[in-house]
Amino acid sequence: MTPGNTILNRPLAAPKPAAAPAPAPATRVVIEARNVDFFYHAHQVLFGVSLEVRQNEILALIGPSGCGKSTFLRSLNRMNDLIAGARLRGSLRIDGEDIYAPGSDVIALRRRVGMVFQRSNPFPFSIEENVTFGLRANRLARRPGERVAVVERSLRAAGLWEEGKDRLKKPALALSGGQQQRLCIARALAIEPEILLMDEPASALDPIATARIEELALELKQRYTLVIVTHNLQQAARISDRTSFFLMGRVIETAPTQQMFTHPAVQETEDYITGRFG
Ligand SMILES: Nc1ncnc2c1ncn2[C@@H]1O[C@H](COP(=O)(O)OP(=O)(O)OP(=O)(O)O)[C@@H](O)[C@H]1O
Ligand SMILES: [Mg+2]
Repeated sequence: MTPGNTILNRPLAAPKPAAAPAPAPATRVVIEARNVDFFYHAHQVLFGVSLEVRQNEILALIGPSGCGKSTFLRSLNRMNDLIAGARLRGSLRIDGEDIYAPGSDVIALRRRVGMVFQRSNPFPFSIEENVTFGLRANRLARRPGERVAVVERSLRAAGLWEEGKDRLKKPALALSGGQQQRLCIARALAIEPEILLMDEPASALDPIATARIEELALELKQRYTLVIVTHNLQQAARISDRTSFFLMGRVIETAPTQQMFTHPAVQETEDYITGRFG
């Protein structure tokens, strides 16, 4: 025994019950797609798509035009149901629940899974009315005082409060394109979804407005799970945790974003991210 070693020389204290090491937080799978096929009438556009999205991550969907990214995204809150002849086969689970099971509640699903589109699409109402639009349909915040609180909370979360607070009664269409897109994010957040789907949310915006949406996405992932379709590979690299590469209706590869962009496992992914096609 080393005499100077105070730890070893210290008299033994009564042994404390060893605190169990905190288990590493298991990342919960929120969205699970297994062998999803999708058809518009007889035209099959998704083939055996399987992927998972975990809580509080940003998953980016990339791939050439027409490869099925938007179709897949819309199937996550059953937006495709509105398209005649659209049909899905396979299993899509959110929080373990098969969202296409007979009797599954679509209204409740769309409340949990909010969506923001490529072109901002505010309604021709005031800023405030745009934010509260979804509340009535979902029977939320019925008292006026509650609605005021929702407006502030949602606009703050979407990074639009400072610019919008003095013009809540003014038409939403008078906002800039970037502000309108943040308003649409606020509208989606007002009903407190768990998941936010974004289909090319910044493709119509200038670089500054795009940067704001990207910052916002990074903030939102603290509270939400995000799936973002983007054609901008730098954007995917900047904000997403993992990326799925779609090609002609198939998922070619899903990987941590840094890994996919530096060491893609599949030749087609490499060809796409190095600009050889698409
Ligand atoms: N409403 C629709 N009715 C019929 N076919 C459709 C419909 N929407 C999409 N498709 C077809 O499904 C395929 C996948 O389209 P989708 O819009 O999902 O691709 P995408 O990857 O989002 O493309 P982009 O990058 O151009 O937005 C395409 O062949 C498209 O023509
Ligand atoms: Mg699309």
